[in-house]
Amino acid sequence: MAETQNLSSTERIKQKSDGLRGTIKESLANEITGAISEDDQALVKFHGMYQQDDRDRRDERASKKLERLYSFMIRLRLPGGFLTPEQWIATHNIAGENSTGVIKITTRQTIQLHGILKSRIKPTIKAFSEVKLNSIATCGDINRNVLCSAHPGQSPIHDEIFQYAKKISDYLLPKTRAYYEIWLDQEKLTDKTEEEDPLYQDRYLPRKFKIAITIPPNNDVDVFGNDIGLIAIVENNELKGFNIAVGGGLSTTHGNPETYARLATEIGFVDTEEKILKAVYEILTVQRDYGNRSDRKLARLKYTVDRLGVDFFREELERRIGFKLEKPRPYSLTERKDYYGWVKNHDGRWNFTVFVENGRILDDENVKLKSAFLEVANTGKANFRFTTNQHVILADIKESDKKAIEEILQRYQLIAHNENTSAIRKNSMACVAFNTCPLALAEGQRYLPILVTKIEGLLTKYALEKEEIIIRMTGCPNGCARSYIAEIGFVGTAYGRYNLQLGGDYEGTRLNKIYKENLDESQILSELDVVFANFKKERNGNERFGDYTYRKFFNAVQ
Ligand code: HEM
Ligand code: SF4
Repeated sequence: MAETQNLSSTERIKQKSDGLRGTIKESLANEITGAISEDDQALVKFHGMYQQDDRDRRDERASKKLERLYSFMIRLRLPGGFLTPEQWIATHNIAGENSTGVIKITTRQTIQLHGILKSRIKPTIKAFSEVKLNSIATCGDINRNVLCSAHPGQSPIHDEIFQYAKKISDYLLPKTRAYYEIWLDQEKLTDKTEEEDPLYQDRYLPRKFKIAITIPPNNDVDVFGNDIGLIAIVENNELKGFNIAVGGGLSTTHGNPETYARLATEIGFVDTEEKILKAVYEILTVQRDYGNRSDRKLARLKYTVDRLGVDFFREELERRIGFKLEKPRPYSLTERKDYYGWVKNHDGRWNFTVFVENGRILDDENVKLKSAFLEVANTGKANFRFTTNQHVILADIKESDKKAIEEILQRYQLIAHNENTSAIRKNSMACVAFNTCPLALAEGQRYLPILVTKIEGLLTKYALEKEEIIIRMTGCPNGCARSYIAEIGFVGTAYGRYNLQLGGDYEGTRLNKIYKENLDESQILSELDVVFANFKKERNGNERFGDYTYRKFFNAVQ
């Protein structure tokens, strides 16, 4: 069982937190600082927020002897990444009033707002609550936002899968009422037994926990990058059940060889809803009981699975669920993408996917996405769905409403915006990094667009500009934009420097590897120049870029 000795400090903070309450109320009331206490910083993650500071302004503030410019990032719980038009309008207004104004679609199909001052957290959460949105358990050592394949036009079973994402999300919510008391001023419970939590108990999980569901042949969610990956098994347009994969996780630590990225391993198949919920729940309890609680760098399920061994893990799970898992069923993943532009559902409704570079929704000199989306929402004729590649689907539009939406898209030139975006940019993704992420070593979303422009030039030089190549950047080795499952991955090592990682496949079933370390921009471009030139000459037929680099540099025959 898990270590009881040498508990990490976070374990102790969770345990003595009185159901994640800690001293958050006192921290909020303290007007002397824009920050909250250190212990409370660990606890507010479970309420869906991170304390951050503006890293661009640290030196200036220090020279004026001012404390850092603290603010908070709030992340919503949106299983399957869905908002009604009313909820979009509310989010638009909340972002304008309380945050930087940018609505950030994340790589896990939800929304984050940045730059929220301590005094504005409560109004923000209250305003979200009015439209039935919350941020419960979107950060912290707990099950986070559940992902599912984003595109309703992809499959007749999309809605069924989306309902699963919601059910799993609800099933794994913590029982504590702390969120409602602290942020929404609800009455304190007199009978504490009401919030006893058989799943999370008093220490929650050893580390964050992520679940995603995919519908083959698309692996848009990067199902194997999650602690639990569920692969829908569909036969004759009917959902038969799910293959379950466990132990995916991407983050590593530079210089710590004990850490590694890992893709989830398939351990079996289950058919009924009851069985799937039970299996998911008990995978969490195995991790709760066996996960490492002394070293947070080795605490994710991936390390537990490898330490216990896949067979032991499966047997322990079967003991807890009381039935045997069937053998995984066959399926095929052939793509990992968003379907830009108009796509029709099986039931005749329309979906328009808009490219949003790195998920940042704002009005800039090129395109006024924020105003356009508000107009669309104001019609009440389209829902909003978010893809795990940070794009927006204006969804579920009736045939009779399509013209009205099309008119807005034309007026804001969003159709041209999609069409004028190159293949590589459409397949690019970066994490937040500077200026808010405290862990960033290098830039992410502020820099990748600039680098992609330069890479577009190289691709054009070799007439490769139509090639779909998945390219991702993270500002540190935590891998929030899934840079380890890209065909070209950049992992920040220091300001302006990145490891260049190659050899991942297009479908997201093979991790990339370090090709060259610690490169600056000119080195990145000269390395890629040579690799692209050789790819053009040496590729076998329609061989994908990731398969070519794997064969060429990592000595493997496909
Ligand atoms: C030890 C591992 C990790 C740590 C400590 C970590 C920490 C953080 C922090 C501090 C942020 C906030 C950045 C900001 O908004 O300013 C963030 C953002 C985010 N992280 Fe992680 N992260 C880790 C790994 C991952 C992984 C492996 C994934 C998914 C595969 C992930 C998904 C996200 C997402 C979706 C965001 C929101 C912003 C975005 O879309 O880029 N994180 N993470
Ligand atoms: S990958 Fe690193 S730099 Fe980027 S958001 Fe995640 S923690 Fe921050």
